[in-house]
Amino acid sequence: MFEVLPYLEPDPILGLSAAYKEDSNAAKIDLGVGVYKDEHGNTPIMTSVAKAQKILLERENTKSYITPQGHQGYIDNMLSLLLGEKSPVLMADRVAGVQAPGGCGALRILAELIARSNEQARVFVSDPTWANHIPLMSSAGLQLETYPYFDKEKAGIRFDAMVDTLKTAGKGDIVLLHGCCHNPTGADLTNEQWDVVLELAQERGFTPFIDVAYLGFGDGLDEDAYGIRLLAENLPEVVIAASCSKNFGLYRERVGLAAIITEDAKTRDIVQGQIQSVARGSYSMPPSYGGALVDIILSDTSLKKEWMSEVNSIRNRMQSLRTMLVDKLEENGAQQDFSFLNTQKGMFSFLCITPEQVREMRDKHSVYFVGSSRINVAGINQQNVDTLARALVSVL
Ligand SMILES: Cc1ncc(COP(=O)(O)O)c(C=O)c1O
Repeated sequence: MFEVLPYLEPDPILGLSAAYKEDSNAAKIDLGVGVYKDEHGNTPIMTSVAKAQKILLERENTKSYITPQGHQGYIDNMLSLLLGEKSPVLMADRVAGVQAPGGCGALRILAELIARSNEQARVFVSDPTWANHIPLMSSAGLQLETYPYFDKEKAGIRFDAMVDTLKTAGKGDIVLLHGCCHNPTGADLTNEQWDVVLELAQERGFTPFIDVAYLGFGDGLDEDAYGIRLLAENLPEVVIAASCSKNFGLYRERVGLAAIITEDAKTRDIVQGQIQSVARGSYSMPPSYGGALVDIILSDTSLKKEWMSEVNSIRNRMQSLRTMLVDKLEENGAQQDFSFLNTQKGMFSFLCITPEQVREMRDKHSVYFVGSSRINVAGINQQNVDTLARALVSVL
């Protein structure tokens, strides 16, 4: 029966990794895949995570199933991290939440739940957005719309155009927002722009859906939660998908959180049951391991402090890589202004060059990144930044 299905090309990012591996140029540079890399190009296990693994090994005495919602300690700790320890919505018992298999798992079950509640719901996603948002939302049967977000010519946010489009969204619609460190552009809303989004949601009645996969990689753990907390505290309903893949370096363990702020505690109970039933109908219950590690870290004052300081170092390092690249480009005589890279946040930015220039970077200089010109900033290091800057200047 399956022969009727069409052949699908592999994901371009996987093709890019394969091509990078095959390239024999010793000076090749990989700015493609979205994982954090240290100065030596490794994606290490964070020290706080390694310590938590030892604790878990000692502590765990069964491999029996965990509960359908996941580790409650993990959920509570993550909600405090995202919403703030004394969040009024937590105090009012207005938050439903389950541990999910990664940010993707969270996005998908939340999309299913939205479709269960309103088959006609439209999901407005930023143009551009993270490529996987499209299948994650549309596979649940949701109708997709876009709102303008990034202007490649000006290397900045098209906020007025975004506002104009969001004015067409209404009750029953969903607006998907990146909590911080927008992927792929690195261009984040300012606090004032978040304030405007709040006013729009209040006026129009749409439900914000915040995807947060890089908390702590932008300006800081609390600073990056500005938009989430603002909307959570001032709207009756907010949907949140969080990932621990990047900021805990737990990629392969698949740790995420699906949460919904509801209008009141009674609705919370309904939503909690419904979201667990969506999970039950797809993967039954989440894997235990990664959530247990995050729970250990966030429950232990000294481990939490250590993790926070590791997140701070990652953030500061990525910021310094941005500065280093901008300086090297200038040193190498770039006519184009790349200073926008310094004000953008997180792991990604668009270089705002053409697909032909991206291709030339790859073919002539063995620098690998996707055609949209999105680079993984963490792929830059002291050793390759000069080569990278020279290659870029030569294709401009
Ligand atoms: C914007 C965004 N959301 C969600 C995710 C989900 O990550 P994961 O499923 O690996 O936790 C990612 C990962 O790249 C992402 O960039």
